[in-house]
Amino acid sequence: MSLRTIITPPDPRLRRICAPVERVDASVLALMDDMLETMYDAPGIGLAAIQIAVEKRVIVVDVAKRKDDAASADPICLANPEIVWTSEERSTYEEGCLSVPDFYEDVERPARCRVGYLDRNGKYQEIEADDILATCLQHEIDHLNGILFVDHLSRLKRDRILKKFSKTAKLEHPFPKARAAL
Ligand code: NI
Repeated sequence: MSLRTIITPPDPRLRRICAPVERVDASVLALMDDMLETMYDAPGIGLAAIQIAVEKRVIVVDVAKRKDDAASADPICLANPEIVWTSEERSTYEEGCLSVPDFYEDVERPARCRVGYLDRNGKYQEIEADDILATCLQHEIDHLNGILFVDHLSRLKRDRILKKFSKTAKLEHPFPKARAAL
């Protein structure tokens, strides 16, 4: 496993539509392992492959792991994830993103969703999610379609964040990472 660099705006790769994997082979498993290591190190609760500049439809999430407690880890690795159902009921979470560090804004999404995907054995599975896991899965699947959480905000807010961000992208940000980022 190795730590990978997380890309940030205005890197145009964050806007690409990622390609499905043909099968879950050793290279995809190695990618998932690198993504988990990178996500835990950040730390974050979700990561899409494109955030480490790999244009594949692969995401990892773990909403269970507590800081400095490896035993609480409960990762899910998903290849070719697709949302197959969303609830009409909606919920709002304050979202962040490892590719847009230190910015957090309320985003409204369907409160529950069901996602079909290939697991680490290449077997088709469906997971039904609510609460923060539902938000996290939708956020990560957005990444595979070139969508960032700021795209769900008003144009004014989004432009303000991306503009500020592109100016400070190469500087060390002064604020500590306190909250969960996806
Ligand atoms: Ni993100």
